[in-house]
Amino acid sequence: MKIVMLGAPGSGKGTQAKLLVEKLGIPQVSTGDLLRAEVASGSALGVELKATMAAGELVTDDVVLTMLKARLASDDCANGYILDGFPRNVAQAQTLRAMLLEIGQPIDRAILIQVDEEEILRRILARAEGRADDNEETVRHRMDVYRAQTAPVVDFYRDLNVLTEIQGVGSVDDIFAGVCAAIA
Ligand code: AP5
Repeated sequence: MKIVMLGAPGSGKGTQAKLLVEKLGIPQVSTGDLLRAEVASGSALGVELKATMAAGELVTDDVVLTMLKARLASDDCANGYILDGFPRNVAQAQTLRAMLLEIGQPIDRAILIQVDEEEILRRILARAEGRADDNEETVRHRMDVYRAQTAPVVDFYRDLNVLTEIQGVGSVDDIFAGVCAAIA
């Protein structure tokens, strides 16, 4: 099964994706995690990515797609995966669709988790990890980037008739019940 988790920064995509990993036994593929691992490696590419991510801007499609393709080629992705943080713009969604049509295995379901901006801000500023992009100014900018570049991806999957929208405020368990219903 191939699932795309959509939603603004802090909407709970990662939290719900981790629960789906346990339920379905397929991996979570988070482009944010892949990019943060590159930054942590201290590579020349990681140094470049660090500034872009700390500013709340999207990394270039070329960089993200190269990392994503390598990750999806791993054995543990053979039976499916949960994409978290990808696609982030329509060009990425189109590239993914073309890749998957080539192997005859399109995305089964895209799940949009909806949370209002003030709740998002509260959640992210309360997050313990202390990510470089988790301050108020950058979170507001990440929301702007989401509205301008990522929100159109919702319509992309709606037009393909694979979109389910879920209200993302409430207990993690209640929201997960909605996620499970979406893929049943
Ligand atoms: P990325 O790592 O994808 O971050 P994000 O989309 O900004 O999302 P978050 O990880 O902040 O939130 P989430 O929706 O996963 O929520 P979570 O479950 O953590 O991207 C970071 C950067 O990498 C981007 O800005 C960009 O630079 C780059 N990037 C990544 N992918 C890219 C791509 N494809 N193309 C280009 N650039 C890319 O929850 C948030 C918090 O809320 C947590 O503390 C959690 O415990 C809490 N929480 C969760 N659910 C609930 C609930 N129901 N009630 C209360 N609290 C909750």
